[in-house]
Formats: sequence, C-alpha cells, structure tokens
Amino acid sequence: MATKLAALVVLVAFLAGPAACEGAFICFNGWLRLPIICPRGSGTPREPVPSTSGSGLSYGYYTTSCPSAETIVTEAVRKAVVVDKNPGIGAGLIRLFFHDCFVRGCDASVLLNTTNSKNSDTEREGPPNKNSLRGFEVIYEAKTAIEAACKNTVSCADIVAFAARDASYFLSDGSINIPMPGGRYDGRESFASETDQLPGPFSNVPQLQASFAAKGLNPVEMVTLSGAHTIGRARCMFFSSRFSEMNQTYAASLMAECGDNGNTNVNQDYVTSNVLDKQYYQNVIDNKVLFTSDAVLNSTEETRTEVMQNANTAGAWERKFEKAMEKMGKIKSDQQSVEIRKVCWKVNNNYK
Ligand code: HEM
Repeated sequence: MATKLAALVVLVAFLAGPAACEGAFICFNGWLRLPIICPRGSGTPREPVPSTSGSGLSYGYYTTSCPSAETIVTEAVRKAVVVDKNPGIGAGLIRLFFHDCFVRGCDASVLLNTTNSKNSDTEREGPPNKNSLRGFEVIYEAKTAIEAACKNTVSCADIVAFAARDASYFLSDGSINIPMPGGRYDGRESFASETDQLPGPFSNVPQLQASFAAKGLNPVEMVTLSGAHTIGRARCMFFSSRFSEMNQTYAASLMAECGDNGNTNVNQDYVTSNVLDKQYYQNVIDNKVLFTSDAVLNSTEETRTEVMQNANTAGAWERKFEKAMEKMGKIKSDQQSVEIRKVCWKVNNNYK
C-alpha cells in the first residue's frame, strides 16, 4: 500500500511540474525527465520574488569613475570571439548573464565559488551550470584589467552584463546593440539548490511562462529570449528522448552525431550555428529544434504568433531581443547585493 502511494505521489509530481516541489520532497523543475527526490528542506514552497525594475542603474555608469571599464570588457570579448575565433565563448557569455540574473538577480552570484557563509556548493555546481557554463575566463581577464585601471570600482555583475551585450553584438555581426546600463552590485551568497529557478529543457509553455513571470518577464519576452538558442551548443542528454517528435531527417542526423553518448555536444542551430540571428524561429516552425522547451513554442497560439512574426519580419526579433536583454539585466537581487568584489569568484573578506 505504502509503495503504491509513493508511486502515485511520484506520478502526480511528474505531471504537475514545478508546483510538485512544494510541500512534498519530490522535485521536477523541467531539467530532469524523471522526478528526483529533493534534499530535505529544498521542498518548501517558494514565493515568486517580484522583480522590480533596476532603479539605480544608468547608462555610462562608469564614465567618471572608471572611463575605460566598458572598453576593457568589449576588448576582452572581441579577443575571445573575433580574434581567437571562438564564437562558443560568446554563446557562453550570453548564457552566463541569463543564469546570473535568474538566480538572486544580476549580482554575479553565478561566478562565486567562495561565499560569505563559506558555502562551496554554489550555483556553479547546480545541474544547469555544472560542466556546462563557459566564458568565465573572459570575465576574469576583464576584471583583472579593470582592477589595474581603477581599483574597487566596477562590479563583476556589471562585467557579466557588459560581456553579454558585447557577445551579442559580435555574434550578430553588429545587428544587435543592447543598451546596457551599469550600477549593479555583487552579492555575497550563492547556492546550487537555487538554480532550480532556471527553466529546464523539458518544460512546457505554462512552466516556461511561470519561470519567466517569476522574474518579471512576460510571455513575449520569454519567446524573444529563447531565440538565444540560435547559437551555442547543447548536450544530447537533454533531447535524445524526443528524437521521435522531431522532423525525422533532422532527428536522424542528430542521432548519428550523438551516438549513445549523452554528453556529446551538438550545435543548437543547424543552419547558422555561430550567428545570433532569427534562424531559430524558422527552426521552431520546421520542428528542427532540440529541446521540448524550444519545440513547444510552436504549440500554443500565443507563442506561435510570436514565433511566426520573429521568423518572418526582418529586424523584429533583433529589436525585441535588445529590449528583453536589457530588461533581464534589471532583475534585482532579492538579497542585498552589497559590494564591489575584488576578485570575481570570491566574496571580499570579513566572512560572517
Ligand atoms: C526558455 C528557457 C530555456 C531553457 C529551458 C534553456 C535550456 C538550455 C539548455 C539545456 C542548454 C544546453 C546546456 C548543456 O547542454 O550543457 C542551453 C544552452 C544555451 N542557452 Fe538556454 N535555455 C533557456 C533560455 C535561454 C535564454 C533566455 C538564454 C539567453 C538569453 C539562453 C542562452 C543559451 C545559450 C547561448 C546556450 C548555449 C551555451 C553554450 O554554447 O555554451 N537560454 N539552454
């Protein structure tokens, strides 16, 4: 009887999605195909944190205090993406910004491996990030050069935001110019468990909309920002269960690439893999995208209208992407982000 009841709870949790994390110790946040048992304590309900717009941010924030700051970031990104011809690092930087802002707001908590509470199980160790995020070295390189130019002035959170802006510019060949204000502060805590706030690749439309809404982003912005999947790579483990649902020619080529190794990486956009462009939306229409979370955008009237418009109207997606990225950069930390870190992967001294 107890076994049957447990099985029923697991099934209900699986079908119910993220809400199943509440109360029960069973968690499914769209990152796993099957429900997992959450560590005790992480199953408590989480109130969505209303994300206020980023008051205190302004354009050219460092013009007086550190005039070279933004140029140093731009040059570090240019070196990695253009000079060293590594567009994947640009993709990594755009994703790093998303993963920073969705967890505790844009406070560079995603970079920490040493925190105020001495927690070492930081966001970097969370399932969406571990062995996946890239581009850290560009942030550190920029920070080192900026500290040499002006000490204790420029936050790591701002460097992450400027780097995402610059990566978007270079990868779009100058078509995407995000107006990115500065003035963020760095946080002092980071927890792997909180990365469950990031939407997962097995999410459906309501789940995606809910996770974006919890960060103050609307359904149109959700579809717009998903367009970042026009660059970069993804591991087979996140889509190999849905080959049968894809365009079959596309699925066959992916199957050949993946073999039986879930850790193999493939390009997210099979047409223009290294260009930040609107091709993703045509791929959605053609059923030639990797994740459930990509494919479902073609499945509701609301999201499909956006997909069609983005695919068919020159410049429409690019302008929306600029605005949505800027807005994402204004998600405020629900904790106090209090310092300008000296080194981006550890909080300043005086641990509590
Ligand atoms: C809509 C919900 C989203 C889901 C479910 C999702 C999920 C994922 C997953 C599973 C990967 C592959 C990770 C791996 O295999 O290691 C990935 C890659 C990527 N995502 Fe998303 N993502 C979403 C939204 C976004 C947003 C909003 C952005 C940025 C604005 C973004 C940018 C990227 C980029 C650029 C990559 C490739 C990274 C690289 O090549 O290093 N994603 N995403």
